[in-house]
Amino acid sequence: MKRKIVIAGERVYMKFFDMKLFEPKAKEIDAEIVPFRDSDEQKFRAVIAAADALIVLDRPIRKEHFAVMPGCRIVLALSVGYDCIDLSAATERGVIVSNCPSYGREAVAVHTLTLLLAVHRKIKLLMEETRQWRWDYNICQPIGELAGRKLGIIGLGKIGRKLASMVKSLDLEVLAYDPYIAADIFELVGAKRYYRLEELLGQADFISIHAPLTAETRNLIGGKELKMMKNTAIIVNTARGKIVDERALYRALQAGTIAGAGLDVLGEEPPDKDNPLLDCDKAIVTPHMAWYTEESLRRLRDQGLDEIVRVLKGERPHNIVNTEVLPRLRAR
Ligand code: NAI
Repeated sequence: MKRKIVIAGERVYMKFFDMKLFEPKAKEIDAEIVPFRDSDEQKFRAVIAAADALIVLDRPIRKEHFAVMPGCRIVLALSVGYDCIDLSAATERGVIVSNCPSYGREAVAVHTLTLLLAVHRKIKLLMEETRQWRWDYNICQPIGELAGRKLGIIGLGKIGRKLASMVKSLDLEVLAYDPYIAADIFELVGAKRYYRLEELLGQADFISIHAPLTAETRNLIGGKELKMMKNTAIIVNTARGKIVDERALYRALQAGTIAGAGLDVLGEEPPDKDNPLLDCDKAIVTPHMAWYTEESLRRLRDQGLDEIVRVLKGERPHNIVNTEVLPRLRAR
């Protein structure tokens, strides 16, 4: 019987992903691709019951799902973030969880910088002005120069470092907060290390989030943290929406506690139609596409499928995130 690779999650099925492109690699291991895009939970459980591998993007995979997938050897997050997967349940059941760690670092860094500059230059306000056939640039005052301003990066991993290197030519000073990396990385990147997030928040003119969503980073930026920022500060989030308390952010923008926000991610995606951030002059929101370029899309697909092929062939996975599962792996 052919092996089954179930691909589930609404976002995977947006036109970016042509399922046919997954097929040649699946053939290598005599597997078929089983697309699943229904939100119905019972149907989902019935489909994954026969899965040898499961690919997800955003769709939560919890303990109860692992309980109904006796043959599944790998759950792959087709993304850098794997916060939608219950890692301890996977490990308990002997299932590998892998992600696609580096396919889009340039794209995300470029998009982050684009949001930062667009908010700084008040592009949303100015576009509305010209869309209304007006030509009054006084509405954008004041805008300052970038040189000498400080960019505070939260999470100096692959994307944070790429962004740090990109902004050098803009003469921005880079500050960074990341409690989990070695001191020499800050030196190599040319970033001033902050041991306390509060201090970075008070110093930075621009703040950009590049940490994963974890129990520790959920709501990392709330009302208290927003009040610590300069009232001219701009915050950019291309990491995960739930790292920022959106209600507090909206209130801070309305009250002038901070000056602007650039967001590629929101707490709920797609957002409610009445999410006020979508309609806020001081915020630019894009639909979780920072990762996208034609090249990164290809890399994502290949990295993901190659990992599935390795695991189903019994080879060692390259991008495993629950390494503690290795002694408990399911027999083939
Ligand atoms: P990475 O794993 O290379 O870097 C993450 C960094 O965050 C690490 O250096 C880690 O030590 C640090 N970190 C962890 N907990 C922290 C905390 N509490 N405070 C400060 N720093 C902390 O990941 P990468 O590739 O740089 O991606 C970062 C995030 O960007 C991903 O977790 C993902 O959620 C998001 N992302 C968003 C995309 C989009 O399209 N909007 C696409 C790709 C990634």
